[in-house]
Amino acid sequence: MFGDSFPAAVRYAELLADAGVTRGLIGPREVPRLWERHLMNCAVLSEVVPEGVSVCDVGSGAGLPGIPLALVRPDLRITLLEPLLRRTNFLQEVVELLGLDHVTVVRGRAEEVLGSLQPVHVVTARAVAPLDRLAGWGVPLLRPYGEMLALKGDTAEEELKNSRSALSKLGVIDSSVLRVGEGLVDPPATVVRAEVGESPGGVRFATKRAKAARADRVRRRR
Ligand SMILES: C[S@@+](CC[C@H](N)C(=O)[O-])C[C@H]1O[C@@H](n2cnc3c(N)ncnc32)[C@H](O)[C@@H]1O
Repeated sequence: MFGDSFPAAVRYAELLADAGVTRGLIGPREVPRLWERHLMNCAVLSEVVPEGVSVCDVGSGAGLPGIPLALVRPDLRITLLEPLLRRTNFLQEVVELLGLDHVTVVRGRAEEVLGSLQPVHVVTARAVAPLDRLAGWGVPLLRPYGEMLALKGDTAEEELKNSRSALSKLGVIDSSVLRVGEGLVDPPATVVRAEVGESPGGVRFATKRAKAARADRVRRRR
């Protein structure tokens, strides 16, 4: 699955099992299942990410799914977005140690970086929030016709059913539940895909984004 990046994936697994645990970023009980449950389960997301696009991994934590995705997809430009300093420090170290030049770490909450982050083609997320709340944070970060890909468990269908109206208000024009990693991970990973139309986040967010971008430009000029 990791091809030429396999040594780097091994190094990442070691970092998670060592510093990841001692710094409280990942539970010690996760160590025996790091590969199946974390690295591989996240890397298979690659199947549904288009070639050469920009990606923002919202609530990346210790780098999941962003780092495994970056390992298998050097063609992507990936931002790992995470509010907690302890976690962004770890992410920055991982990025440097693994030489992931196509990955940038940004500290912040999704709803606070609107306007300072360039809108992306794809937002990814795992275990960050229920779908409707996650969409409220992630969808406004998308560019027109971008998509959010949320790794979800057994609740995916139910969550999507209950979030359809919230998604539609955010400008989502198409949504579905996908299975990825057939024959690679067992069971396959479940992904909720939500594609936006022309105004990601809806009109309210378009105005908010424009205001934030203006404020950011003024701040930079000073
Ligand atoms: C349960 S952890 C999951 C981490 C990682 N995605 C994973 O699957 O292991 C949730 C992460 O979301 C981050 N988070 C929570 N609210 C957020 C927000 N509004 N914007 C960005 N990240 C957020 C937290 O700091 C935390 O690192």
